[in-house]
Amino acid sequence: MIKIVPTTPYPDQKPGTSGLRKKVPQFQQKNYAENFIQSIFDSLEGFDNKILVIGGDGRYYNREVIQIAIKMAAANGFGKVMVGRGGILSTPAASNLIRKYGAFGGIILSASHNPGGPTEDFGIKYNASNGGPASEKITDAIYARTKVIDSYRICDDPDISLDVPGIKHVDEMEVAVVDPVEDYAALMETLFDFPAIKTMIQSGFRVAFDAMSAVTGPYAKEILENRLGAAKGSVKNFMPLPDFGGHHPDPNLVHARALYDEMMGPDAPDFGAASDGDGDRNLIIGKGIFVTPSDSVAMLAANAHLAPGYAAGLAGIARSMPTSGAADRVAEKLGIGMYETPTGWKFFGNLLDAGMVTICGEESAGTGSSHVREKDGLWAVLLWLNILAVRNESVKDIVTKHWAAFGRNYYSRHDYEEVDSDAANGLVDNLRDQLATLPGKKFGELVVQTADDFAYIDPVDHSVSKNQGIRILFEGGSRVVFRLSGTGTSGATLRVYIERYEPDASRHDLDTQEALADLIAVADEIAEITKRTGRLKPSVIT
Ligand code: G6P
Ligand code: ZN
Repeated sequence: MIKIVPTTPYPDQKPGTSGLRKKVPQFQQKNYAENFIQSIFDSLEGFDNKILVIGGDGRYYNREVIQIAIKMAAANGFGKVMVGRGGILSTPAASNLIRKYGAFGGIILSASHNPGGPTEDFGIKYNASNGGPASEKITDAIYARTKVIDSYRICDDPDISLDVPGIKHVDEMEVAVVDPVEDYAALMETLFDFPAIKTMIQSGFRVAFDAMSAVTGPYAKEILENRLGAAKGSVKNFMPLPDFGGHHPDPNLVHARALYDEMMGPDAPDFGAASDGDGDRNLIIGKGIFVTPSDSVAMLAANAHLAPGYAAGLAGIARSMPTSGAADRVAEKLGIGMYETPTGWKFFGNLLDAGMVTICGEESAGTGSSHVREKDGLWAVLLWLNILAVRNESVKDIVTKHWAAFGRNYYSRHDYEEVDSDAANGLVDNLRDQLATLPGKKFGELVVQTADDFAYIDPVDHSVSKNQGIRILFEGGSRVVFRLSGTGTSGATLRVYIERYEPDASRHDLDTQEALADLIAVADEIAEITKRTGRLKPSVIT
């Protein structure tokens, strides 16, 4: 039976870069999740009798909110819910289901790479019918609704069993509990040359994939071990755990340290990779060499034609503004369009829908293509494997040859986490105040060419997004970018992105931090990082 339950608004339900993210205890407040889900439904039109996809990364509180979302979907008039068995769907797999089955949209429960557990993070985001994150127009409407909401609709049916696939019902609505992996694995088989990868693996090529006790475990087991023949045990930490085993499911050099050490060790496998909490990020490491996400998107774009799904070539490439310019050089050589967007995968949606780009990438370990409307960790792994199988060279050879051909963009990101919010905002305001006076200023050898606060005009719908990060560009192509993270849940995180282009191949094996040392010093001088945050060094360097 449908109930209409009175409620009162919460003031803090503004979606960030990727949906609403809060600590679990905040989500456990009375009607907190219900308010947000009803606000999503109230901001949409025309979903009567349509399909809604629901799934999450398996983190703590996933199952509870899935039950609530299913019962609310039934009470709001959806015709059918598709939910992954056990409540599990990786973010790219959810995007695929929405597209494949013509769903109206999807609700993805995840806080991505943030830790999980009773006092850690949880999140809810809405994806539209193209399978991609809702546009700002929709997220703004959702936020506006959360501020005035006074009731929500829910069926008072008992919980449905999520563990056995099949068709169930809540009130009159059908609930299909589906295998979370099957459709996704089938899609991957259409894009990549599985027989070629399998042959490479059979000839002794070793793979190590760290699923970080998060959602990609079942996907990677099925694809890498069962379908591609990688040795049992190649996929590590493959059981999704509600607290990710107490770790940060963030595939970077800090949190995937064990994999990194293995790949740098004497008995390193040929290829190492990891993905994050909800399966959309990737980390790629070759034997003895880490591939930065910015380089990875450039190298994948340059070689994508070697995979069957991209044999016809690419329509264009897009990258977020703080991502290095390595991909720009590839686009230039291929004679295809290059687009620079604000941070956040949602900004690629229009370009992909319009057929203007095929491959997109972000420095934050996200790479993907037009096959879905989310970034896709395992997709990046499989494209790398396909390229390695065809070129029959090591990751290191591919990387160094790429640098020799295109030049190397030395690149690093320095994060200052849990900084006092006022101090962080003051720092950005101070940078903004300097924008007009910086051009022409000299810092040692470095001369500022331009400085601005990045604004983006979407070439498809002409919407404008302002204040997307402070860019300081130096003569010669080096740059420093400052922005505040939109995904944190406590205090502010300052991100400083540092980049220097080096065309000379004899200077391609420098230590990254040393190669960037002068820019790092200038970044502190201009932004007064130490003075304003009290931090002597970044919390994380990637
Ligand atoms: C999420 C989004 C990415 C984005 C990243 C930025 O992962 O899906 O598209 O690049 O957040 O995070 P930040 O913390 O820098 O705002
Ligand atoms: Zn993620």
